[in-house]
Order: sequence, then C-alpha cells, then structure tokens
Amino acid sequence: MLGNVSPRRRREFAWGRHHAREALRRLGFAPVPILSRGDRAPLWPPGGVGSISHSSSDCGAVAGRSSDVLALGLDIEDEEPLGADLLPIICSSAELQRREWSSNRFGPKLIFVIKEAVYKLYSPVTREFLDFQDVSVRTGDHTGLFEAEIINPEKPTSFGSRTINGIYLPFRGGILALAVRFRGA
Ligand SMILES: CC(C)(COP(=O)(O)OP(=O)(O)OC[C@H]1O[C@@H](n2cnc3c(N)ncnc32)[C@H](O)[C@@H]1OP(=O)(O)O)[C@@H](O)C(=O)NCCC(=O)NCCS
Repeated sequence: MLGNVSPRRRREFAWGRHHAREALRRLGFAPVPILSRGDRAPLWPPGGVGSISHSSSDCGAVAGRSSDVLALGLDIEDEEPLGADLLPIICSSAELQRREWSSNRFGPKLIFVIKEAVYKLYSPVTREFLDFQDVSVRTGDHTGLFEAEIINPEKPTSFGSRTINGIYLPFRGGILALAVRFRGA
C-alpha cells in the first residue's frame, strides 16, 4: 500500500494505523485493516470515522461511531514556531489583524494546526482541496475551542454548513487540534 518509501515513513504509517485500530477497538469495532484512499485519506470501516496525524516526534489517531460523529479531523504539530515567511500564506488578513494567537505560546502555529485539522475533516467528505486562505479561524477567548468558517463561496459546504468547530490543546510539547462534526449538530 505504501510502495517504496523510507523506513521512517513506514514506521510513521504503522504507528498511525496502530493508534487508529486501537481507537476503533475501544469503541467495540472488530480489528480490520485501515486502507488509504488515492488522496491518502484513511478508509474507515463501515460505521466508523476517524483521523490520523503525525508530528516529527509523535503520532495520534481519533475515532468515533458514525451514529454519533459525521467526521473528524486531527492534526498534531511540534513546537517549532511557524516561519515568518509562512505567515501571509497560512493566515488571512483578518486573522493577521486579529492576532488571536498572541497569548498562545505557539503563536500563529495555532492557526496552522487548526486549518490542517479542518482540512482533514472537510476534504474526505467534499473531495475538495482547501487553500489556507479559503478558511477563517476564530479562537476567541482562549478556552481551547475554535470555530472555522469556509469563506471561499466557491467551495462546497460540508454537511450543509460553512462552519466547522473543534478544540485545540497543548500535546506532548507540541500542539493538537481536533475538528469535529457531530451528527445532528
Ligand atoms: C493532508 C495534510 C493535511 C496532512 O497533514 P500533515 O501535517 O502533512 O501530516 P499529518 O501527519 O498530520 O497527516 C497525515 C495523515 O493524514 C491523513 N490524511 C492524508 N490525506 C488526507 C486527506 N485528504 N483527508 C483526511 N486525512 C488525510 C492520513 O492518515 C495521513 O497519514 P498516513 O498517510 O500515515 O495514513 C497535508 O499534507 C495537506 O495536504 N495539506 C494541504 C491542504 C491544507 O492543509 N489545507 C489547509 C487549508 S484549510
């Protein structure tokens, strides 16, 4: 399934799948191989949804029952700050003005990790690519909750909505964001 890749990538893939299978097992799913789609998005077993992420030093997976959760998007990033040259690529002008990350120790990397998580929730469902400028993130009053809005009107909604919510938190020296769309929300 992976082809000719480095040992590091093989390990990373195996660890991601290990965590994903474990998350599914805890929900009562029988062990099944988690294959990948052509665009690399994991293929979850019937009745399940999930997401996998790796940072340079860590790896994690989340899973849910489709009866409760329609889609999940997980991203884990290490603590290395976002390069200044990347700021205008990752952040919209409104985000740059708001600077809602200013009291967060990860700075604008907060916006990056959230957008990656949002993409992982959004793209498997819509089969659409999202550019960083297609999404606007609000982290508000630093409670660890975020709201992301698909602001490019040419992009389809996901589950009938342009808004995707989730949480962010420090994770093993780095930062993690999880985008969640609950059924019925
Ligand atoms: C897909 C992408 C988000 C992965 O993020 P990353 O930080 O490079 O890598 P991570 O380790 O966190 O995630 C990789 C895992 O995500 C999953 N993944 C890959 N493509 C995916 C997709 N299209 N949708 C959902 N999950 C995907 C896979 O499980 C993959 O690991 P695996 O190949 O070992 O199974 C990134 O490579 C990408 O293509 N980004 C461009 C688009 C984007 O980020 N837009 C943001 C604007 S909102």
